[in-house]
Amino acid sequence: MSKPLLNALQGQIEPRPPFWFMRQAGRYLPEYREIRKRVPSFLDLCYTPDLAAEVTLQPIRRFHPDGAILFSDILVIPDALGQSVRFTEGVGPQLEAIASADDLTRLSAADTNSHLAPVFETVRRVKAELPEDVALLGFAGAPWTVATYMVEGGTSRDFAQTKLWARRDPDGFDRLLELLVTATSGYLVSQLDAGADAVQLFDTWASAVPADQFERCVIAPTRQIIANVRAAKPAAKFIGFPRGIGPAIKKYAAETGVDCVGIDSALSPAFAAEALQPGCAVQGNLDPMALLAGGEAMLAAAAAIVAALRDGPFIFNLGHGVVPQTPPQHVEALAEFLRSGTQK
Ligand code: CP3
Repeated sequence: MSKPLLNALQGQIEPRPPFWFMRQAGRYLPEYREIRKRVPSFLDLCYTPDLAAEVTLQPIRRFHPDGAILFSDILVIPDALGQSVRFTEGVGPQLEAIASADDLTRLSAADTNSHLAPVFETVRRVKAELPEDVALLGFAGAPWTVATYMVEGGTSRDFAQTKLWARRDPDGFDRLLELLVTATSGYLVSQLDAGADAVQLFDTWASAVPADQFERCVIAPTRQIIANVRAAKPAAKFIGFPRGIGPAIKKYAAETGVDCVGIDSALSPAFAAEALQPGCAVQGNLDPMALLAGGEAMLAAAAAIVAALRDGPFIFNLGHGVVPQTPPQHVEALAEFLRSGTQK
């Protein structure tokens, strides 16, 4: 049986656009909160294959999307490199910040994959349980975005330390990006070996990269990861999600090697259809706040996106992740609408 999401990644136009939702697993689901209570920390959940597989499958049972995304986090890479990572309720991620090239000596990509073995086991378990027509998506953070967490020590408003380091010590910062390229390439190859059908690179904070650093911090590391992974897995399919970069997404789509580009809610679907779809598939881009608001307005917004993008290869998604306050009923209504194909 074919998987509609993979068909779209191969450039096909599906009769009904396939869909999944970023952050489709997580705190907005009561059954997720139940499982989350069983482990002391969020990373324990990521590293417990039984539980991680269960929470990956929860939204599949409820909403029947065309894709399941592995339950893990982009910050397992710094954790595997040897940087301490903690998630604190209400605060978000906290890392022991690295401040300079000297701190890189504390990190090593030598056995990231043995540290991450439980994640690959999760992939195998999910794969065994998924319906045949549902694609299993692996993922990782793109080097720039992961670097911001490593250097700022958590979420940031202005990314000042990361940007300063990139300018003051270009060689040292490039070594950090290279370390991330190496670890991330190996991580994704192992996800694909374990059964992931395609992978997504999340570059959530690409929006913060100055134009003169864009090639170096976003394009080059992404292109390198894709080339490394394809050297081992020539058929590997990639979705890139460089959030908030505006029209620079044209360059990203043309030069990184992605099969599909994820667009955030600020980008007009009409622009994406015209500027991107001739070259690759497009994924997006309903505003997560439209999903939170729900109702007819949500369905109308979804229908407008489908109308703009359905004549080219297209995967329906949000423009960013489901927010924790979202009523599951709204997600259900949206999924039903997309499955029905009535938005034609
Ligand atoms: O359903 C899915 O999308 C799969 C799992 C997934 C999570 N994080 C689970 C998670 C995925 C794909 C991610 C990616 C991720 N993680 C990104 C890129 C996408 C994006 O949202 O921009 C980023 C930037 C992170 C880093 C991260 N993880 C932050 C900043 C936080 C804390 C903020 C928050 O929402 O609490 C996390 C924690 C996290 N990752 C949770 C989940 C379900 C919540 C933690 C909990 O349940 O205790």
